[in-house]
Amino acid sequence: MLFNSDEVVRLGILISGRGSNMVALADAVSAGRVAHAEVALVVSDQADAAGLDRARERGLKTIVIERRGRSREDHDREIVAALHENRIDLVCLAGYMRLLSTEFVDEFRGRILNIHPSLLPAFPGLHPHKQALDAGVASSGCTVHFVDETLDGGPIILQRTVAVLPGDTEDSLAARILEKEHELYAEAVAKVIQWGRGEEGKRGKMFPL
Ligand code: GRF
Repeated sequence: MLFNSDEVVRLGILISGRGSNMVALADAVSAGRVAHAEVALVVSDQADAAGLDRARERGLKTIVIERRGRSREDHDREIVAALHENRIDLVCLAGYMRLLSTEFVDEFRGRILNIHPSLLPAFPGLHPHKQALDAGVASSGCTVHFVDETLDGGPIILQRTVAVLPGDTEDSLAARILEKEHELYAEAVAKVIQWGRGEEGKRGKMFPL
């Protein structure tokens, strides 16, 4: 089993910016909408990330670990050490704007999630809303997936569809998708915890372990 069913699953949330997904997830946990979980740590790679204040306001433990010109591997080693020190079981990337090193992924394989504002595998990487508008799709949405070495490419856990409306701009589409992201991340974390505690069967390749 991925998580010990006698213990609360300790979440570590990684952010780089405004942190609205982190807030939504933390609030869902406090409201009891993600069973058997607590937010044990918020890590930012940016000292001025707005999300840090929002985490502190909620009484969450925060740490800033900046890259400071180091290699990705060295930076990630410090983050992994902080995650272990804080006994983190499940890592949630929430607007964390860096690719993870293989070492980081290996250390937490099957226990790192990410949220992306498109219906993956469509429109991975940067500017997904612009990619969706340029492609002329009738609907886009958001995806929570397990993180592996590929860019936004790991096994998909949950997705939600959002219609693209006539006259949508990147901002208007992003705002509507963001509302759905805030619901979806908590649902996906709750689901992974259920799987990981052995409370729900594996389904196809959704659960990668
Ligand atoms: C979200 O759209 C998320 O899907 C993407 O980056 C954005 C972060 O927003 N990975 P926030 O920092 O959670 O407000």
